[in-house]
Amino acid sequence: MTVTIRQVGPCLAGEVDGVDMRKPLTRDEVAAIHAGMDRYAVLVFHDQRIDDGQQLAFTRSLGEIEHAIGTSLRAAGDYRLPTTFADVSNLDKDNTPFARDDRRRLFAIGNRQWHSDSSFKTTPAKYSLLHAISIPSKGGDTQFADMRAAYDALDEETKAEVEGMVCEHSQMFSRQLIGFTDFTDEERERFKPVRQCMVRTHPVTGRKSLYLSSHAGSIVGWPMPEARAFLRDLVEQATQREFVYTHKWQVDDLVMWDNRQTMHRARPFPAHEPRDMRRTTLAGDGPTVAQAAA
Ligand SMILES: [Fe+2]
Repeated sequence: MTVTIRQVGPCLAGEVDGVDMRKPLTRDEVAAIHAGMDRYAVLVFHDQRIDDGQQLAFTRSLGEIEHAIGTSLRAAGDYRLPTTFADVSNLDKDNTPFARDDRRRLFAIGNRQWHSDSSFKTTPAKYSLLHAISIPSKGGDTQFADMRAAYDALDEETKAEVEGMVCEHSQMFSRQLIGFTDFTDEERERFKPVRQCMVRTHPVTGRKSLYLSSHAGSIVGWPMPEARAFLRDLVEQATQREFVYTHKWQVDDLVMWDNRQTMHRARPFPAHEPRDMRRTTLAGDGPTVAQAAA
């Protein structure tokens, strides 16, 4: 089958036809998908009736997997899925929705803020691939914002200001923003901030983008309140409606996005309803900036 992609909504999202993830990809299909990602940064595939093994095989045909180890508040014996998946559901290992005040749920609510996956890791994620197994009766959309368009829209003075800027990212910063602060000593150690550059250049297209995320909580060399206010202003500008695509999920949709060029956020949904979403992730090429000694 021939892979075709047509734009949906703002220029960052494309809808793909001609891909069946139950079958191995040809070399041409792999190339078409990567080219589509370079152009759009978000690709939507409908009606992919795949199991976990098929999602993994599809993901691996596009690159190297990033494992999800120690990135949530699930305890070691508490995982519903293997570490080749990030469990983006609201379900415990018995497939029961978390209670409303469950700590694991409250931590995950941090993902309702604009972010880029794994920006809290030294080597952050390249693509994320999210497959919808079950969806709530309402809400639960995922929104994507184009960080290339956001960069292009900056005035020259701000472009000069962000060039060479380095931020510190941590899941503790994004959770502090929503009032979640009760971390254990072990979690504080595990979630220690890492450094990321603010401006990224796409290795194929050469386009620059803003590497923003709610995980970004300080700017190296800046006083904290000034840094936080600056980051908040940038996120506000970068997520204006004209830069945003809203995905309304259907069961068996798989949406793939480039974390280097976009931010995303989940939208609220009824707490007692299951939302079973399974994410595989492609690892990035390496750190975006040299890390400071701990
Ligand atoms: Fe995410």
